Amino acid sequence: MEARLVHVACIMDGNGRWARKRGLPRTAGHTAGEESLSDVVRAASKREISHLTVFGFSTENWVRPRAEVRHILGLHKKLFGRIKELNENNVRINWIGRPFDEPGSRTPVYVQRAIRKAIEDTSANTGMVLTVAFDYGSRAEITRAAKNLVRDKKIITTENLSRNLYDSTLPPVDVLVRTSGESRISNFLLWQISAAKIYFTDRPWPDFDAVELDVALSLLS
Ligand code: FPP
Repeated sequence: MEARLVHVACIMDGNGRWARKRGLPRTAGHTAGEESLSDVVRAASKREISHLTVFGFSTENWVRPRAEVRHILGLHKKLFGRIKELNENNVRINWIGRPFDEPGSRTPVYVQRAIRKAIEDTSANTGMVLTVAFDYGSRAEITRAAKNLVRDKKIITTENLSRNLYDSTLPPVDVLVRTSGESRISNFLLWQISAAKIYFTDRPWPDFDAVELDVALSLLS
């Protein structure tokens, strides 16, 4: 592949169905999903990918059964705790989502701490940036950007809105992946995917691998 750096974004769907097919609880599917993510991060860090952004937990996911939410939050702690692995692969952790101090924020302190620590402990890495969207919703992100401009008495321009997104340094997405046969965007990175190619695959997220990643990347050539 030519030497250009790509931003890949993933909607990691189908953990529940993956588990059901095996007669396992949904939580086992999420556990397998976190392991799959760790493998995909390693594979992505060895390719011409500068940014990988994944939908870890949406603002809509809080209504899931409490035990499932707790399990997914625990998996975020596990992922953000993979510091050694991230450092070995020169991966820098980043996060986008509803700010912790915003009214209505529900992110428990232990997840906030895990996010902050992972960002700090990987900040010297110079390779791929792994952005985890946690308590994230795109409409809320864009609405907040517009509100910031009104508050600051700035004019509404594309540049000013971009500058007020959760992370203004996040480049446009080149390829958006959605697993498990769903062809929906689900309020993920609506602003950032305006020119993205989209790769829909029937495979559930726990089965997504480096081969599939290469198929998604081939949409760009
Ligand atoms: C969709 O599966 C996935 C999620 C709601 C969350 C994504 C979470 C993971 C991949 C686990 C670990 C990730 C991180 C970032 C730590 P689903 O439950 O909607 O599956 P279904 O549609 O088959 O029910």
